[in-house]
Amino acid sequence: MSDVISTLLAHMTLDEKIGQLNLVIAGDAVTGATVSEGVVQKIASGAVGGMFGVYGATPVRALQTVALEKSRLKIPLIFGLDVIHGHRTIFPIPLGLSCSWDLAMIENVAKLSGDEAAAEGLHWVFSPMVDITRDARWGRCAEAAGEDAYLGSRISAAMVRGYQENGDNSLLACVKHFALYGAAEAGRDYHTADMSRLAMFEQYFPPYKAAVDAGVASVMSSFNDVEGIPATGNKWLLTDVLRKQWGFDGFVVSDYTSVNEMIDHGMGDLQTVSALALKAGLDMDMVGEGFLTTLKKSLDEGKVTEDDITTACARILRAKQKLGLFDNPFRNLRDESPKEIILSPKHRAAARDAAARSCVLLKNDNILPLQKTAKIALIGPLADDKRNMQGTWSIAGNWEECVSVLQGMKNAAPAADISYALGANVTDDPLIAAKANIFGEKVIIDPRPENELIAEAVREAELADVIVAVVGEAQEMSGEAASRADIGLPGKQSALIAALAATGKPLVMVFLSGRPLTIVNESKQAGAIVAMWFGGTEAGNGIADVLFGDYNPAGKLSMSFPYAVGQIPVYYNHKKTGRPYAGEFPGVVDVPSKFRSRYLDIPNEPLYPFGFGLSYTTFEYGDVTLSETAARGNATLTASVTVMNTGAHDGEETVQLYITDPVASLSRPVRELKGFEKIALKRGESKTVQFTITTDHLKFYNNDLHHDWEAGEFIIAIGPNSAQTRGVAVTWEK
Ligand code: BGC
Repeated sequence: MSDVISTLLAHMTLDEKIGQLNLVIAGDAVTGATVSEGVVQKIASGAVGGMFGVYGATPVRALQTVALEKSRLKIPLIFGLDVIHGHRTIFPIPLGLSCSWDLAMIENVAKLSGDEAAAEGLHWVFSPMVDITRDARWGRCAEAAGEDAYLGSRISAAMVRGYQENGDNSLLACVKHFALYGAAEAGRDYHTADMSRLAMFEQYFPPYKAAVDAGVASVMSSFNDVEGIPATGNKWLLTDVLRKQWGFDGFVVSDYTSVNEMIDHGMGDLQTVSALALKAGLDMDMVGEGFLTTLKKSLDEGKVTEDDITTACARILRAKQKLGLFDNPFRNLRDESPKEIILSPKHRAAARDAAARSCVLLKNDNILPLQKTAKIALIGPLADDKRNMQGTWSIAGNWEECVSVLQGMKNAAPAADISYALGANVTDDPLIAAKANIFGEKVIIDPRPENELIAEAVREAELADVIVAVVGEAQEMSGEAASRADIGLPGKQSALIAALAATGKPLVMVFLSGRPLTIVNESKQAGAIVAMWFGGTEAGNGIADVLFGDYNPAGKLSMSFPYAVGQIPVYYNHKKTGRPYAGEFPGVVDVPSKFRSRYLDIPNEPLYPFGFGLSYTTFEYGDVTLSETAARGNATLTASVTVMNTGAHDGEETVQLYITDPVASLSRPVRELKGFEKIALKRGESKTVQFTITTDHLKFYNNDLHHDWEAGEFIIAIGPNSAQTRGVAVTWEK
């Protein structure tokens, strides 16, 4: 412990130490039923360690001044916020960003977000959120990086670097939600997550650990229980795994009132759960004030020790010291939000680029890119909309700054003849609309009858060369507490797509969503489909770049698209079954196979698999070659593949490496992503991509949670997505 901190601790009263553990909210970032009260007075009395929900020169300066002038020890406050995918300039939602597979871009998004946040007095961002999720019903898919541990880990580390390694604007990152929050049963938010330790260590923990390895300063505990004990009070999780195994040395903050919520989990009264949390390794209590109001009593009753409190306090003080707050409590704060940073042309350009790079082209029957002189019928509830472009968790973003799809298309193609019709409401259900409008009006229902709206759209469509339908979810139909049981296009939008398809005109379906949607029918009806997620401030310009071919789409899915909700959880790296299904028996198609692992009514495969995404050009993969097909011990192998751009456009391709371990001491997944490289290829150009493979790539956790590799045969496969790879076998002996 540094001298300054130990000297300070020696001067602190017990109340002052407990005060440092208290994180309060002010402003409008409320995501729970409880709101902090009497904040200023509490700061003055030394009962607050940090705040969130406040940003901008005036309030931050005012509140920090209270801490510095009124509190006895003048310990500066730490100011945090949910800067999730941008601060003032909003970038695509994290699910969208993850579909870029572009780590440099994602790191830069974190850096630019940090520049804006720092300029408004913030020190700490509640990001990255890297909960693995295999369930598209869960609304918070929108905030995460998809279903895969490897991709999620790379993104997690990139974001931590972007926030924390940013010169004078470096902030503290907070990886969340530790742990397993994305595995909420049945996709219902805040629900229990029950799984084997093997699955935790193999599939769900790696992205959190990657953040720790990248030096993340803080960790947020999750709402759910893990093995029966809520994460916020789970010592195994917060101390044994996080600190002892992984060597984490920052501080752990609870989620919003998650200490108090342990009462509802059935763990005891507020005093009991607060002591449980502190003992488990939780350092900071978000909003609920269980620590503030009960720890002293627990100390008197011998339920916690002064040492427990001092340890937590020291961790928080050390974080403040790391930020330089003791030397400069007004760090980076400007009297006016600086125009050269906030929503600057540079940030907007980066947001536009990110919006385009996040798009995933799921289908294209030679319709895209569009001609810039075409007569286009632009249809749909999200086509001329600015309110829903940012996506969930865009607290400091202003939707009025956003570019709609209509505006973006006009900007990109002034010579195009674009007509517009609403076609359908996002939803016609006032209750769902009310839920989606909780943070401001996002859904405005046109009262005209559904048939009239569709008929109007069809009339426009019939006059056009091509239809672009922009459909999907309103932004708060995904995100926190926004689970959906039916994840199809909401409202009458499917009927709209069917009616537009029936015109026989080429139909492009662009959709906004915070999750994979079930779009089997639409995938047959539309000639081209683009997932644009929620693209952020520059969404409209970004999608226009894609639609007109100024940017050739290169996104690849980070989450499988279920064929139907009944398939969920559906993910590419599933385990094997003893009764695999390989289609009906060849030659006996009239005798259906029985006793196989399959559905009677739908395929086993998702509609679109993990890693999938098309381009306006085509790429041809050559055979995979290995530097050796027999290896021993700590050998290093090289797997190579030559990829050629065989189409008519320059483009980018994410070349993906998957490894299969066919025989081991326990049943292993059918394949696992172990590497990827995004390359740019001009028309006709080819490149050889090489992956270095070591025994680290072969390791897995066994049932004793021992992490090692086992000798035998491995299949090294490379391809454009998880379902289309070519592999070569290597035998690897000890
Ligand atoms: C969310 C967290 C968020 C926190 C503070 C909670 O409801 O689960 O992700 O960081 O609120 O806004």
